[in-house]
Amino acid sequence: MVVFLGWTLLSVCLLVSASQDQKNITAESGQNVTLTCRAPNNIRTVEWSRADLGEKYVFLYRDGRKTTVNQHPSFKDRVDLQDKQMKDGGVSLILNNVTINDTGTYKCRVVETGTLGLKPISIISLSVVDPPGHTGGPEKDGHVGLIVGLLVSGVLIVAAFAGFVIYRKHKGEKSQGSH
Ligand SMILES: *[C@@H]1O[C@H](CO)[C@@H](O)[C@H](O)[C@H]1NC(C)=O
Ligand SMILES: *[C@@H]1O[C@H](CO)[C@@H](O)[C@H](O)[C@H]1NC(C)=O
Ligand SMILES: *[C@@H]1O[C@H](CO)[C@@H](O)[C@H](O)[C@H]1NC(C)=O
Ligand SMILES: *[C@@H]1O[C@H](CO)[C@@H](O)[C@H](O)[C@H]1NC(C)=O
Repeated sequence: MVVFLGWTLLSVCLLVSASQDQKNITAESGQNVTLTCRAPNNIRTVEWSRADLGEKYVFLYRDGRKTTVNQHPSFKDRVDLQDKQMKDGGVSLILNNVTINDTGTYKCRVVETGTLGLKPISIISLSVVDPPGHTGGPEKDGHVGLIVGLLVSGVLIVAAFAGFVIYRKHKGEKSQGSH
């Protein structure tokens, strides 16, 4: 029983850690997105990058402070660490006001104190879409307008037809009466 519980716990932990390594998230443009990353405690450097940006960083923290050296211009004033103290190794990144151009695969890597080399921690695939109704709105209004228009013309046609029939009937009765 205990062994079984142990194995269950172990597999759950493995599953959780595996799903933390690579993650897919979807956001709507205009939203603020949090890219999660938790590193060991002794952090010297934090590097958030995106493969398609080449040498340019999304976010870089080095020598005890963040730096905009080599930051890709599209992230200027739009990114920051969720917890500036990086308490408990939390180096999640907040990306403000995302656009469809922010779609891509983000990597979080850190250098621990006393070590050399970047250690990959998490990979997040972000997909930004335009909110539903953003472009569909006017189209929807157009449909409503069309339906209202059809209803109104339908009512008008029916009224006109009814009026015609009543007129004819009335006229017929009149002519019948006069003869
Ligand atoms: C993320 O999306 C890719 C395809 O876009 C898929 O192959 C992969 O399994 C997904 N991963 C997760 C963890 O959902
Ligand atoms: C995004 O974050 C900024 C700055 O923190 C805030 O002013 C804004 O209201 C947030 N926007 C959304 C959609 O949450
Ligand atoms: C968000 O980005 C859009 C387009 O890039 C811009 O027009 C808008 O002013 C930005 N909003 C904020 C709150 O920065
Ligand atoms: C996305 O990038 C393209 C090309 O760089 C640019 O023309 C467009 O305005 C950008 N769109 C947004 C929403 O920032």
